[in-house]
Amino acid sequence: MSTFRAPKGTNDVLPPDSGWWRHAYRVFEDVAEQFGYGLALTPLFEDTEVFARGVGGDTEVVEKQMYSFLDKGGRSITLRPEATASVVRAAIQAGGVQGRLKASYWGPMFRYERPQKGRYRQFYQGGVEYLGSGSPEADVEVIEFGYRYLERMRVPHVDVHINTIGDAADRARHRTELIKYFLERFDELSPDSQRRVETNPMRVLDSKADTDVIADAPKPSDFLSDEPAEHFDAVRAGIEALSIPYTLDSTLVRGLDYYNRSVWEYIPRTYDAAQSSVGGGGRYDGLFEILGGKPTPAVGLAMGVDRIFLASEAAPPRSLLDTFVVVADDKKRTEARTLVSELRREGLRVDMTDTVRSVKAQFKEADRSASATAIVVGDEWSSGLVAVKDLKTGEQQEIPIKEIGRWLRA
Ligand code: HAM
Repeated sequence: MSTFRAPKGTNDVLPPDSGWWRHAYRVFEDVAEQFGYGLALTPLFEDTEVFARGVGGDTEVVEKQMYSFLDKGGRSITLRPEATASVVRAAIQAGGVQGRLKASYWGPMFRYERPQKGRYRQFYQGGVEYLGSGSPEADVEVIEFGYRYLERMRVPHVDVHINTIGDAADRARHRTELIKYFLERFDELSPDSQRRVETNPMRVLDSKADTDVIADAPKPSDFLSDEPAEHFDAVRAGIEALSIPYTLDSTLVRGLDYYNRSVWEYIPRTYDAAQSSVGGGGRYDGLFEILGGKPTPAVGLAMGVDRIFLASEAAPPRSLLDTFVVVADDKKRTEARTLVSELRREGLRVDMTDTVRSVKAQFKEADRSASATAIVVGDEWSSGLVAVKDLKTGEQQEIPIKEIGRWLRA
């Protein structure tokens, strides 16, 4: 027996359970196309500096969670902990964004976390980035995107927690006041937070260990200047017009440094509070410049597929196959293979055994592969017919071979 195990914090997903994952991916692609997002494919690893600068050196992600290593050429490489910095890096490398660029992605992200339910070292995100728009309508569209995706994935009772953290100048004023406040209550803070008070006081607001001190801390909303305040009003009016349920959460700052103005998280009300967000996003108007590009406003989100899996009421698709071809007459295997090939080319999902097996064994395989029907290639073949059995009801009927594709699709 093999002693190899999947590395700590990673999961294998195999058929038939992976049916849910394929469904989740297809729905994501479908919603992305409905909202007009093209596809962005970027490397699973980047120059470490892309994340160190993009996500922010003082964030939990960069400080503690990066999978970084030197490659054989001595370059410092990091497995992507998230994809926003990568997409922005790619857009800058391609010459920047003229007008708008709407890009979506799906795939594994890597963070060296303490694994627990809903928190893994390799996890999956589906995300969208709306590049080149500073309009509050873009924020509303991206917020709606995540909400509709969760609706389609049947995650019940989703509440969107939303906040604004203002622009750079607002954050600077907030920062000064925060430092003042935290220094007054320095002794009550955890060592991690104490260390961050002067380097990154916003991050202290994210600490789970200092909730009492944080409760009375100055809020980003106390320092909002007019333009970001108006922007936020427009975002709220936009999501209200779409009847998306939301909660104003003045303590929400999110764990990545690139955000300004709108930030939000999707929280299913019924779901276990510790790993509660099944997705999150925000505006990041400064990230292009941080990574060496021209000023380009942008907003985006990423949905956490592993957590959606835990919260979703969507059943995996019932049948993996439209039909399973059972060969009752061994001399007709070639005809059966040809029929399978034709039906597949008609777009149907079809399988058969790999070698001669008893009819009973073939029906067993048909059941195991969760096929909706079985086609029996037997004596009727010479009269141009096959028997089709509905594997749920057990009903059987004879259908002309030429019509079988149309019949299965009906
Ligand atoms: P994030 O909040 O770090 O944002 O991650 C988004 C979602 O990924 C979370 O809400 C959560 O569902 C899931 N997630 C994060 N870490 C883990 C983990 N260790 N295990 C399982 N699921 C996890 C971002 O990554 C930003 N790039 C989102 C964004 C895009 N902002 C603007 N554009």
